[in-house]
Amino acid sequence: MPTKIPTQVGIIGAGPAGLFLSELLRQQGIESVVIESRSRQYVEDRVRAGVLEQATVDLLTAMGLGARMKREGLVHHGIELQFNGRRHRIDFEDLTGGKGITIYSQREVVRDLTSARLAAGGSIYFEVDDVSLHDVTNNPRIAYVQDGETFEMQCDFIAGCDGFHGICRPSIPQGVVTIYDREYPFGWLGILAEAPPSSDELIYSAHDRGFALLSMRSPQISRLYIQCDPDEDIAHWPDEKIWQELETRLGVDNWRLTRGSVLQKGVTGMRSFVVEPMQYGRLFLAGDSAHIVPPTGAKGLNLAVADVQVLARALKEFYVTGRDNLLNAYSEVCLRRVWKVQRFSWWMTSMLHRFPDETPFDHKRRLAELDYVTSSRAASQSLAENYVGLPLDWS
Ligand code: FAD
Ligand code: PHB
Repeated sequence: MPTKIPTQVGIIGAGPAGLFLSELLRQQGIESVVIESRSRQYVEDRVRAGVLEQATVDLLTAMGLGARMKREGLVHHGIELQFNGRRHRIDFEDLTGGKGITIYSQREVVRDLTSARLAAGGSIYFEVDDVSLHDVTNNPRIAYVQDGETFEMQCDFIAGCDGFHGICRPSIPQGVVTIYDREYPFGWLGILAEAPPSSDELIYSAHDRGFALLSMRSPQISRLYIQCDPDEDIAHWPDEKIWQELETRLGVDNWRLTRGSVLQKGVTGMRSFVVEPMQYGRLFLAGDSAHIVPPTGAKGLNLAVADVQVLARALKEFYVTGRDNLLNAYSEVCLRRVWKVQRFSWWMTSMLHRFPDETPFDHKRRLAELDYVTSSRAASQSLAENYVGLPLDWS
């Protein structure tokens, strides 16, 4: 017989979506239990997102978890777009009435949330196996195994925060949801390097050899990417070759890229993906389990946070008043934002990358678009307001 674990909300996945949700629920007096297939160390060390929208920063602060981010995060008020060997600054502060973004890595966000949750006596169970969902339309239960023992979580609702490769989305019967999917014919080869960032702000460069991005994690650590084949073998990219390619694609007159030892490197594929609706019975999908964006707009983590804010509010309404109108509207409210963010991420990706089948006409049009975006106030304002994050629309 499995050991029974009763709770109000069963959360699958201890990434940003699951952790934010669990802490938001705690602050609203709602119980939850989080289960995670990986170890705590693996989840906390994973190199992923680096850019927090203003709203994500504001939420962490309002939750009382912003102290380290405030100390260590780097606030940026613009980015550079580079093409034809020149850089053009998009001034967020001017274009959005003072807004900006904060460089504070997903690793640190996950560390802060995990520590806070465990310190408050919360339940996060790591290294669980054989997770399966049962009767999600009526009487939801989550079965799993930990250290050879079988458990059954009995809950009112399940939050599927288990990322793109999780089991929640595939647990929904076929025919109930519609999938919108687009793969891009390129990926990003990313490195984390022990090198002071060679620019105060992020540089997005559209070069004839392909896209490159200069980002950072701290005043000592750079994060750099180059466009590559989606199935690129990292073994063909010794550090020297990566640095040379970065220098070529990011180079402009009178500027030097500071090199350093490469701490981590890997290749990520790029896709746009949405599942509709994001709810089935008492199962609610949030974050990457419901949608993926290409990283060019730096939106994935922020979108996951927006989802769980909507879900936390709907669950509060349900537990306080017994009304399920906000729960029923969850998918619709989230998807309106999801599609706007999909549009922006696709647009940034299409504008900045060289597609393998790009015609001379496409190439000229793409450069004209960059020229327009960097010379028209209306166009750069549109980029800026999307990059710093659209306001959360609850309607
Ligand atoms: P995840 O972080 O994927 O968390 C899901 C969790 O569920 C994982 O810990 C996983 O181990 C666990 N899990 C999976 N299956 C199970 C199971 N069966 N049982 C229990 N647990 C399970 N976003 C940005 O906003 N800005 C960026 O700059 C950015 N850069 C990125 C760079 C890279 C290289 C990558 C890969 C992603 C990047 N993203 C970025 C995207 C961002 O990292 C994701 O959107 C974000 O992690 C989504 O959070 P999540 O909690 O929904 O999913
Ligand atoms: C990052 O720092 O990892 C990063 C920054 C901006 C992006 C994507 C990734 O658009």
